[in-house]
Amino acid sequence: MQRGFAKEVRRGLTGSPKSLPPWLFYDAVGTQLFERITGLPEYYPTRTELLILQEMGPQMVRQAGVPPTVVELGVGSAYKTRVLIEALLELRARATFIPVDVSGEALKLAQQRLEPIFPRLEIHPLRAEYQAALEQIRATAGPKLVLFIGSSIGNFEPDEALAFLCLVRRALTPGSTLLLGTDLRKPRALLEAAYNDAAGVTAAFNLHLLERINRELGGHFALERFRHAAHFDDEHCRIQMHLQSVQSQQVDIDGLGLRISFEPGERIHTENSYKFTVGGAQALLARAGFENLCSWTDPRGWFGVHLARVT
Ligand code: AVI
Repeated sequence: MQRGFAKEVRRGLTGSPKSLPPWLFYDAVGTQLFERITGLPEYYPTRTELLILQEMGPQMVRQAGVPPTVVELGVGSAYKTRVLIEALLELRARATFIPVDVSGEALKLAQQRLEPIFPRLEIHPLRAEYQAALEQIRATAGPKLVLFIGSSIGNFEPDEALAFLCLVRRALTPGSTLLLGTDLRKPRALLEAAYNDAAGVTAAFNLHLLERINRELGGHFALERFRHAAHFDDEHCRIQMHLQSVQSQQVDIDGLGLRISFEPGERIHTENSYKFTVGGAQALLARAGFENLCSWTDPRGWFGVHLARVT
């Protein structure tokens, strides 16, 4: 079981309003469902970011100073990483890649995917939470390019995002850089379609949290009594995801010794996904103490990739 799962479920479902933090999505099932989301026709972020990296990757690594070491926080699609490593190895004979993740499985997969393609790349997987990993990385010499792509920064609350970027900056010596991916603000219909796909994969991703509570904590959630809901909150510029109870009900969670009551229509908040402007992302990086070097977007302005340096 993921560390803290029981504690977070207890806290989230006994709080008011009810909530569950988004990092709980990513057990093996959730990780697979998210992989499927990234290939959905409505879910534009992954393929849009990939296009930007494919087109601008060589310029990005040059502007990053062709560093000897690349660190990736959170193992995403090895495909996106591959594009950047390829660009880097065009410009230097050897490089080191440090993928960081809490999942040993994800790290193994990334290593298996990248090792055969890049014989000149040394891979040192680091299984740790970000804070611990960044402390270790701080202790290793030389300039680095840190990747935090995939718009995961949007799943943090604004104060958490700032604190996280400050942590990254403090782990790096001058000359090191950060490449940050952010989903950008766009018309509501496009955003809401991306989180309410026709095939129902995002709904399954959201509902699987209840299944996970059933499996790991002896919960008795009947999934058909909840529905997936995702709406764009214009004021905060974020997609909000909820699980909504379709009826009045009580649900026991044996492993926690809890009985949770739901009103009809009552919601469990499961995720925020903040959408940025290029200026907003740059301002956030500047507040965290980075010097903005360059931002790239796709022609439609749907996704932004930002390179910032530690001075
Ligand atoms: C991981 N993260 C960037 C995704 C997002 O778009 O916020 C998670 C996700 N939730 C629903 N669909 C995708």
